[in-house]
Amino acid sequence: SGNGYDLWLRYDKITDVHLKQSYLNNLSSVYKFGASPSLDVATKELVTGFHGFFEAQISKAAKIEKNAIVLGTKENLPQELLSILNSDFEKINEEGYILKKVTYQGKKITIITAKTDVGIVYGTFRLLKEIQLHHEISALDIQDSPKIQKRVLNHWDNLDRTVERGYAGFSIWDWHHLPDLIKTEYIDYARANASIGINGTVLTNVNANALVLTEQYITKVKALADVFRPFGIQVYLTARFSAPMEIGGLKTADPLAPEVRAWWSKKTNEIYAEIPDFGGFVVKANSEGQPGPRNYDRSHVDGANMLADALAPHKGIVMWRAFVYSEENPDDRAKQAYSEFVPVDGDFRENVLLQVKNGAIDFQPREPFHPLFGAMPDTNIMMEFQITQEYLGFSSHLVFLPKMWEEVLNEDTFTHGENATVAKVIDGSLSNRKLTGMAGVANIGTEKNWTGHPFGQANWYGFGRLAWDPYLDSKTITKDWLQMTFTNDDGFVTPMAELMIDSREAVVNYMTPLGLHHIMDAGHHYGPGPWIKDMPRADWTSVYYHKADSLGIGFDRTVSGSDALSQYALQIQKKYDSPETIPQKYLLWFHHLPWNYKMENGQNLWINLASKYQEGVEEVEKMNTTWSKMKPFVDNERFNKVASLLKIQLKEAKWWRDACLLYFQQFSKMELPQFIPTPE
Ligand code: GCU
Repeated sequence: SGNGYDLWLRYDKITDVHLKQSYLNNLSSVYKFGASPSLDVATKELVTGFHGFFEAQISKAAKIEKNAIVLGTKENLPQELLSILNSDFEKINEEGYILKKVTYQGKKITIITAKTDVGIVYGTFRLLKEIQLHHEISALDIQDSPKIQKRVLNHWDNLDRTVERGYAGFSIWDWHHLPDLIKTEYIDYARANASIGINGTVLTNVNANALVLTEQYITKVKALADVFRPFGIQVYLTARFSAPMEIGGLKTADPLAPEVRAWWSKKTNEIYAEIPDFGGFVVKANSEGQPGPRNYDRSHVDGANMLADALAPHKGIVMWRAFVYSEENPDDRAKQAYSEFVPVDGDFRENVLLQVKNGAIDFQPREPFHPLFGAMPDTNIMMEFQITQEYLGFSSHLVFLPKMWEEVLNEDTFTHGENATVAKVIDGSLSNRKLTGMAGVANIGTEKNWTGHPFGQANWYGFGRLAWDPYLDSKTITKDWLQMTFTNDDGFVTPMAELMIDSREAVVNYMTPLGLHHIMDAGHHYGPGPWIKDMPRADWTSVYYHKADSLGIGFDRTVSGSDALSQYALQIQKKYDSPETIPQKYLLWFHHLPWNYKMENGQNLWINLASKYQEGVEEVEKMNTTWSKMKPFVDNERFNKVASLLKIQLKEAKWWRDACLLYFQQFSKMELPQFIPTPE
């Protein structure tokens, strides 16, 4: 439908009669070896898909028919099939799947199998996707497995249903009616996540409320966990560090106090009694006012390990956030997490993941990769991306984020020789880590289309795909998503894939070109605010980051400045140390340069800055033009919504350009170049 509720699971009718016939020839019926709730949801999805594609009912057969789809985990398959699939099973891990056309008892069948139940669900979605993409399915031979273990959404959802940094309505968790009311949305949310391999959801905000750990709420959480289980999705909660005091009546939350440790053990046991596959806790401690072990002169390791010990008997994990910076610390905010955590590398328990944001400041349109990646080889390090567009135009701007995430994942940390990419840190291969993960701060809410901007869905989708395979290129993601969400018509897919890919550089250019960062308006972070200087903390202002003055602009993070650069490997230090050799996209992140500094193209910094802002605006103009030609391919509802939002984006790109250039001009005291139109 045009409201976008179906996301990328549209299963549109196949109108081409030949194509339709070729599919029907391969999909006579469904047969299952074994029985489980996961097999049931897989079968149900096949029925839904079949109905959408062919407006027909697929039969559930009592025996294997010619051209059947056959589902079953390895342990339930008959010997004859097992021997055919032996080498396929060697290629997959516990969550992987095999999707293959084989001959069994003289009949051609399509087998979907896996080592565990959830693999069957993933394989089923893969088959449906092949049909959505109009691919041939008569000779399927696919083995695929996720490369990262914990692929989780982080909902920054509060118990009152407001969503921190949420721009798509209220929280989809209707706590008031749980556990009795199970909304259809919960099931569709689980389907969407399973279709891209997301296997965990953190239900609550990192700025946590201890109430969610009370008995009353655990019952509600259990209801959600029960819905998600067949889809292979584990539920996690944020643990407020002071919970033992707030809901436990203790006088302290000191992680080394025996009564505190006992309280967390008991609490954890209570949760597992209700939710045997509970995933564990996410903790934001001693950051932006949240309580933590530092309140008791204990370390982050003490805090994380205490919770890890409580969870370990149940195989639960702790995702301890590295987003730590303090107002008392006068050091460059970009340096603080590294300074805090690198000295304790190797001290965390095996079931702790240190959750690190992609950059050292905070989810900016562009940041260099966080120096913690590669710097803690003896610690499980997971990635935290932000799917919700806190600093990137909320749900008003079309920005395809996988393009940005890909840039980070592909960066070489040079920490173990060359080609030590961030992706290799995250998938554990670089230093042989056994526990791996990737988190994405969700952009989901009660809006009919889940994400507000119809293209926000692509960021949810793309996050899942990259969590499954951090080496995937973002172009593939755009194409798959566009085809599944809109149409397979090349007249749409090719220009729109290009638009999506280019949208990332566009937002960087019209907001924060050349390495500028954190110059959004204060608090809400929407729109320009380079002038922001009066805030409760210096590192929440804009002037702290751009440092514009009569001499120049940019944050000197070389040795003459904050020396944050020294937290990176030598190869990077050498290259970034000089404004001549640093990639221009990071120029003002690491250097404070005069306005008339001469850049690669022979023009000075001021002109280059203006050009970038102008390029950003022009890119959004182009996005508007491209979209205006897409009307024949898209239903009116989505067409009009995107068209209107792109107009807002253009208006605001100009707002950004004009506001920033006019603000910086008071320092540069240089003329605006002629290519900048007079502000309206
Ligand atoms: C940002 C964001 C906060 C959030 C924080 C975090 O600072 O603005 O709303 O709580 O990140 O990641 O903990």
